[in-house]
Amino acid sequence: MIYNDDELLQLDYIDKLRKLIYEKEQKLGRKLTCQVTTFGCQMNARDSEKILGILKSVGFEEKIDEADDADFVIYNTCTVRDNANQRVYGRLGALKSHKKKNKEMKIALCGCMMQEPSVIEKIKKSYPFVDLVFGTHNIFSFPELLLRTYVENKQVIEIWDSTDKVVERLPVARKYKFKSGVNIMFGCNNFCTYCIVPYVRGRERSRRHEEIIEEIKRLADDGVKEVMLLGQNVNSYGNNLDNEVSFPELLKMVEEVEGIERIRFMTSHPKDLSDELIEVMANSKKICKHIHLPLQSGSTEVLRRMNRRYTKEQYLALVEKIRKAMPDISITTDIIVGFPGETYEDVLETIDVIKKAKYDNAFTFIYSKRTDTPAASMPDQVPLEDVKKHFDMVLSTVQEMAKERTARFENRVVRVLCEEINEQDDSYLDGRMSSNTVVHFKGDSSMIGSFVNVKLTKCHGFYYDGDVVD
Ligand code: SAH
Ligand code: SF4
Ligand code: F3S
Repeated sequence: MIYNDDELLQLDYIDKLRKLIYEKEQKLGRKLTCQVTTFGCQMNARDSEKILGILKSVGFEEKIDEADDADFVIYNTCTVRDNANQRVYGRLGALKSHKKKNKEMKIALCGCMMQEPSVIEKIKKSYPFVDLVFGTHNIFSFPELLLRTYVENKQVIEIWDSTDKVVERLPVARKYKFKSGVNIMFGCNNFCTYCIVPYVRGRERSRRHEEIIEEIKRLADDGVKEVMLLGQNVNSYGNNLDNEVSFPELLKMVEEVEGIERIRFMTSHPKDLSDELIEVMANSKKICKHIHLPLQSGSTEVLRRMNRRYTKEQYLALVEKIRKAMPDISITTDIIVGFPGETYEDVLETIDVIKKAKYDNAFTFIYSKRTDTPAASMPDQVPLEDVKKHFDMVLSTVQEMAKERTARFENRVVRVLCEEINEQDDSYLDGRMSSNTVVHFKGDSSMIGSFVNVKLTKCHGFYYDGDVVD
């Protein structure tokens, strides 16, 4: 592998850390343990794999349980809605008492929440026992920051506003051997008025397709069969690079990689979804027949104030076009209830779209006011009482429609990737269909990571029971 200067620098810190951790081990007569806890989206999950990869490569052993009492505990945080922040503060309180018992313990915080100045102020003031804090732009320098935490023995806080560094070849510890997320772009330029992501993740930056394909080939060599291409708006992939390929072209290149059998992607912004993408998906054997197409609201007026840049009619026309090309496709969505100024009539428009679009699943969120976003200072914030009522209306429609839609597969035989042992009954496995629907069926751990054909016997709304038929 050819490394650039920034990568070589971090690899050097990894070497130094390895010695330091080894000396600690010798002194303590035991291995040091670590825990990485992830809040938020798939991008954060992927970042956590990078953090764990570095911790493991310098000698930490991963502690897999709920108790937050490892020698190194790190929270990779999310701030998209306020409840994600509250969960972090809640758990930090408990960490303090663990630290009192274990003198070796170090506590770190990173991720989107740390890009907010008010959060940093609060940590400095109220959580002095946190040892290391960094943000989304300098996660690549985690080896350097980790070393400083051990050497300096005082609170290390380093937050950047942006970055142009490309550091892609550091160790990664994947959660699943057989599937992996792959970042194709970072940041977001869309500035939906409710959303904090553009502020905490910075401007949109695409990775070069050569780098992406190289990474996917390496993953395939390492046993990965399914990749999920990650970006806040994958449909605008390549826009900030000269001579870059488009997203559908990138998909075709990924399709060529030997060993990769399934391709997924997240997230598609409806305003940028091209006919070319629909065509490439329809003709592909590897791209899963699933598209996550966030609606947010069915009211054209609310969509305008959200700065989503499509109307109700345009969204529905897009769904129709997708379904015409791929009648069986599963479409899922995100919906926000309680955006400032949203009326009962607006909610009825959303419900109308849910009925017409026939989603396989929809994630419904209560609007959360995020500091410094345009929506935070909009008039007519909706009273909580109304929001709750509207939320229940939307949720029950989603559940009813999804149950009806998902049932179309009943009695069919489908290809399923075996993913993990079922949590309730260890003689069962959980697997996923191309549509991303979960299936429960009899099986054992030797099957994990392989494809099987499953007859779908019973639909439970969002998931199926089935029997392996080969
Ligand atoms: N880039 C993706 C969304 C990433 S955030 C897209 O544009 O589709 C994931 C979801 O969180 C969003 O789709 C939205 O439904 C929800 N969300 C974002 N900000 C929110 C807020 N302030 N309150 C409630 N939900 C929010
Ligand atoms: Fe947020 Fe909109 Fe960007 Fe998605 S597209 S991350 S909702 S600003
Ligand atoms: Fe949350 Fe950051 Fe993802 S705010 S949703 S973890 S990009």
